[in-house]
Amino acid sequence: MSKKEQGIYYTPSVLAEYMASPLIYLNEQTVLDPAYGEGALLLAAEKIFKAKNLGNSIHLYGCDTKPINGLLNHLPEANLHKSDFFSYPVERKFHTILMNPPYVRHHIQNEKKINKYRATYDELKVLNNSSDLWALFLVKAVSHLKEDGSIGAILPWAFLQADYSQPLRRFLSENFGIIEVVALSDKYFDDADERIVIVWLKQFGRRSISINIAAPTSIRAKIEFSKISLDRWLADRVSYTAGYAPDLIISEYISKYGFTKFSDHADVKIGVVTGAVDYFILTKKEANEFGIPAHRLVPIITNSIEFPKYLINGNSDLRLLVALKRDDHFKFRDFIQLGISKEYNLRSHSVLRDPWYSVNLGKVPDAFFHYRISKIPYLVPNLNGVQCTNAFHRIYFKNLTSIERKWIYVSILSLPAQLSIELNSKTYGRGILKIEPKSLKNTIVLKKKDDKIIRPYNTIIKLLAENKKDEAMIFATQFVCNELGIDAALKNSSCNIVETLRKLRRPNRD
Ligand SMILES: C[S@@+](CC[C@H](N)C(=O)[O-])C[C@H]1O[C@@H](n2cnc3c(N)ncnc32)[C@H](O)[C@@H]1O
Repeated sequence: MSKKEQGIYYTPSVLAEYMASPLIYLNEQTVLDPAYGEGALLLAAEKIFKAKNLGNSIHLYGCDTKPINGLLNHLPEANLHKSDFFSYPVERKFHTILMNPPYVRHHIQNEKKINKYRATYDELKVLNNSSDLWALFLVKAVSHLKEDGSIGAILPWAFLQADYSQPLRRFLSENFGIIEVVALSDKYFDDADERIVIVWLKQFGRRSISINIAAPTSIRAKIEFSKISLDRWLADRVSYTAGYAPDLIISEYISKYGFTKFSDHADVKIGVVTGAVDYFILTKKEANEFGIPAHRLVPIITNSIEFPKYLINGNSDLRLLVALKRDDHFKFRDFIQLGISKEYNLRSHSVLRDPWYSVNLGKVPDAFFHYRISKIPYLVPNLNGVQCTNAFHRIYFKNLTSIERKWIYVSILSLPAQLSIELNSKTYGRGILKIEPKSLKNTIVLKKKDDKIIRPYNTIIKLLAENKKDEAMIFATQFVCNELGIDAALKNSSCNIVETLRKLRRPNRD
């Protein structure tokens, strides 16, 4: 495994001091780094202890499978353990634990080792099997704390939004009186693109009474924490919302203005799964060359840049999905032989089909919705009965009239809906919003019977066809807010939250 795969990144000293500083305040203090590497965090603790004139009773301890000794030669040899942290005796307890654990992904972890860790430490049962290594480190670290002790940890952004982090966050709120999280957007580790959060866990042994989150522009900026509710802390995704209580705002849209969940009005299904887009999806010319007739070809959307054009031209420019039937074996030999020669028939999705070349199309959807997007997600009506790949969601309305659907198309672009999407979706890489079906189902929309929606709907479709998404969102928001008489303060708060969330997920852009 490469250094990167093993999660070996040493913490720069400015970040180490930033993280250690609030936790170094006792005159007599024992500090452990369970994966100390070169010792950056221990050295930071030592420096701060001296700078704060706390005396000379700081005791530093480290454990690492592959330590780089040199900077810690002044420590008693017995304090540094060259071993796996999961073999480090739990009887050893400390006032403070500072950690930047390895971020090894669960799918490249050594399964045997992980199973052994899990069998040895009961505490690890709070985590599910898809947890990355850093989460196991954190839970094991907790068992090394003295009563009232604290942990400072540098963790990946996944702490805030991975599915496996939710039970971990619950465990922490059951064991620490104060939790503070600083979400950072800057890059602190050379060649590591991962965004990080600093987590301070204080008052071990109490149930959480205060959970705070901040998102300063950098570690030089003042930290301004906002308190978040336990419900938000335990949600699928924890987000920094600049001090606003987004759940109350969403409830107000529902109770006072009649917004309802998208799932009340539509089913959400993933797009067509081919397992081999390059093979099954052809241009018109390629389809002709294989002699595949129109009744075996289905126009399909594969990329969101096709949406604006689709809204103008219908399906004329789309690529075509080859949808063969069982006995087509005799008719389209060349095409099928080509697939076999390239081993597309052996791909994981192909082997589940019978015959492998007959892609399961499912029903034609009423609309499409983005799965991953960097800016504004919206609902695209399926004007010409086409399909989409699994890069999108397929939407099937539940017995809505054409007017009611138009309300949904418009309102999903308006601020309340966009707020709920931003809040419930995950950010992915640098700036991409990943809207899982669950998040789309929880999006709030407006369904009405009033036909005054026809004009705004036409305007929105026109703006989207011109790829003017910002204008479409502004227009939809104005229409919805005027129509419902939405309170200005509520609108402002929603706007601030959406802007904060978008800025945070797309740092250094816009
Ligand atoms: C991200 S580096 C951080 C090092 C140090 N804490 C710092 O902040 O600079 C992670 C360290 O974890 C160590 N490591 C990986 N797996 C370990 C394990 N099972 N037990 C102890 N240390 C481990 C690696 O050798 C590496 O030094």
